[in-house]
Amino acid sequence: MTFEGGEGAGKSTQIVRLAEALRADGLDVLVTREPGGSPGAEAVRHVLLSGAAETFGPAMEAILFAAARSDHVEQVIRPAVEKGRVVLCDRFLDSSRVYQGVTGDLDAGFMRALEAVAINGMVPDLTIILDLDPALGLARAAERRGGDTADRFEKETLDIHERRRRAFLDIAKREPERCVVVDASAPAGKVAADIEQAVRAHLSRRSAATTRRRVRGA
Ligand code: TYD
Repeated sequence: MTFEGGEGAGKSTQIVRLAEALRADGLDVLVTREPGGSPGAEAVRHVLLSGAAETFGPAMEAILFAAARSDHVEQVIRPAVEKGRVVLCDRFLDSSRVYQGVTGDLDAGFMRALEAVAINGMVPDLTIILDLDPALGLARAAERRGGDTADRFEKETLDIHERRRRAFLDIAKREPERCVVVDASAPAGKVAADIEQAVRAHLSRRSAATTRRRVRGA
């Protein structure tokens, strides 16, 4: 499962809450994040977020995000999924589609090819999109980081963040079977309850499908 959205939408806090709730149910949960999540990808994370790769252009950045994702998928995500663990990932392929593809203005065919190489079939079964007015999200993000400077992407203009918000909502519209949009402007407890409801509905659909397959002997 992946969690997506703009800056300051509360993804990290909500993932921790959800992981606690699922673990209390006895599920084996792995929480991870992008860019990063594996030693190789964490090394690339610094290059990307410091802005060191920015001068080489959006295509170079997109390739670096994809390289980091490939390492994260093969070293961490796939082994966990194969063990039957529930993987909760803070940002994944939709962040690349939106930040690099849409607001980086990269060619759709190039982005599709890069995505296919990076994920190698590891498509999320559920994606929660935390939707929030970017003006609010950026204010929250600034408060969270205190005196530290904004990272490479956070410091972009409000107009760019608004385009990103629309791009995430467009993905949700195009892929309704995978994506659930949650209103992140609500109080944190309500957001957590909405996420939990979507995730539990998904998990029970998934276990019903597994049971049906077993009954059919597939
Ligand atoms: P991070 O500090 O993890 O913050 P948050 O997820 O809380 O915003 O920053 C990750 C940044 O990297 C964020 O601005 C989005 C950007 N990003 C991309 O541009 N493309 C990607 O594929 C991913 C995973 C992240």
